[in-house]
Amino acid sequence: MALMAKDTLSITDNRTGKSYELPIAEGTIKAVDLRNIKVDDDDFGLMTYDPAFMNTAACRSAITFIDGDRGILRYRGYPIEQLAEKATFLEVAYLLAEGELPTQAQLDKWTNDIKYHTYVHTNIIKFLEGFRYDAHPMGMMVGTVAALSTFYPAAKNIADPANRYVQRIRLMAKFPTLAAFIFRHSRGLPYEFPRNDLDYIGNYVNMMFSIGGLHKPNKVLQRALEILLILHADHEQNCSTSAVRSVGSSHVDPYSAVSSGVAALYGPLHGGANEAVLEMLDEIGDKKQIPAFIAKVKAGEGRLMGFGHRVYKSYDPRAKLIKKTAYDVFAETGLNPKLEIALELERIALEDEYFIKRKLYPNVDFYSGLIYQAMSYPTDYFTVLFAVGRLPGWLAQWEEMLSDKDQKIARPRQIYTGPAARDFVPIVARK
Ligand code: CMC
Repeated sequence: MALMAKDTLSITDNRTGKSYELPIAEGTIKAVDLRNIKVDDDDFGLMTYDPAFMNTAACRSAITFIDGDRGILRYRGYPIEQLAEKATFLEVAYLLAEGELPTQAQLDKWTNDIKYHTYVHTNIIKFLEGFRYDAHPMGMMVGTVAALSTFYPAAKNIADPANRYVQRIRLMAKFPTLAAFIFRHSRGLPYEFPRNDLDYIGNYVNMMFSIGGLHKPNKVLQRALEILLILHADHEQNCSTSAVRSVGSSHVDPYSAVSSGVAALYGPLHGGANEAVLEMLDEIGDKKQIPAFIAKVKAGEGRLMGFGHRVYKSYDPRAKLIKKTAYDVFAETGLNPKLEIALELERIALEDEYFIKRKLYPNVDFYSGLIYQAMSYPTDYFTVLFAVGRLPGWLAQWEEMLSDKDQKIARPRQIYTGPAARDFVPIVARK
């Protein structure tokens, strides 16, 4: 008799000989269904062990689609290549937040709402003055974004969608202002206030680079920055987005939740990799040193920064687009001398068995740092630019999480490996 196809999973527990049938939906089983699998009534029930969430879906999401084997990235169904070519950053932010590309009227309202909120309370400047001249920009970003919550106590009311909208708008509006003020603080330059006659990118760049109210915008460089921000805008359940969702699941205000995303992004395995790539290229210094460097990486002494990805195993589509953008930028700024080393490193790595076997390809951060450097950003500022790009993704995912009836406060399980119960030992008796 032919077996009838069924959307279930049959499991036999060989400890007890009992069989179970679990429903399969959307290619997954529910982890809590495993809890019915018990040795006896006192047993807590079967769990899965999945450090780093290698194979666990923590949510259902309609925002970003990635097919890592085929190098596909889409926001709300739209291919990243088309968005990078045709959309503005604010259109993409609207798309991520609302699910559809805006009509002209919707985009006008969205843009005006954001423009209306670009100023930050001047007390923020006092906070910044408390930071040392060499404070890392990402450290300052974590602190000042979290501090915004103290100015908007109503943001705690996360149950009200209208209130959530206002706070999301405020974050979109004030985040570049904070990022630009931090840029100026590091340089000891006076703060340049937002100019609402400029567009989102133009205003951000102006706040960073204008001296004495004068800045000659370079439209090619501004569009290149815009493309980079679009490419970074969302990336489904990455480390920082998971941080925002996880912290946000406690129902804290969005400023605190987003600052946790900034903190996660700071790490060298995540957004901090763009900074680490430049440090690596500096360390290599010369094309002649590349074979020795590759040999060290293969011997397990450090990683080839800007290579490898948890999800992409054929290529990172963002890296392809960024490489193209790099040449547009270098046509304006002159070639970044480190490009030669990067290209050679890429060539050698892509032909090397170690990298081929492990499916390690250049990721989004491999070339972005070279572009940022050519645009005159200091190395320690690169990850801030990534954060400005990723903000719309964090906000869309935060909103989606709060509107999702399946979500509760994030609380993973553990396998306890510590001592069994034992009695307290007075200090004189301790060995
Ligand atoms: N250079 C050398 N070897 C590597 C690298 C690398 N960049 N990445 C992974 N490997 C090796 C790793 O040693 C391991 O080898 P083995 O099986 O012999 O132990 C194997 O490849 C699998 O690595 P993994 O650490 O299990 O892979 P993962 O999915 O946990 O890590 C990653 C993904 C992005 C953290 C990692 O590839 C990495 O550290 N890359 C360098 C940092 C980087 O560029 N990060 C930016 C990621 S893209 C932007 C973003 O997400 O922020």
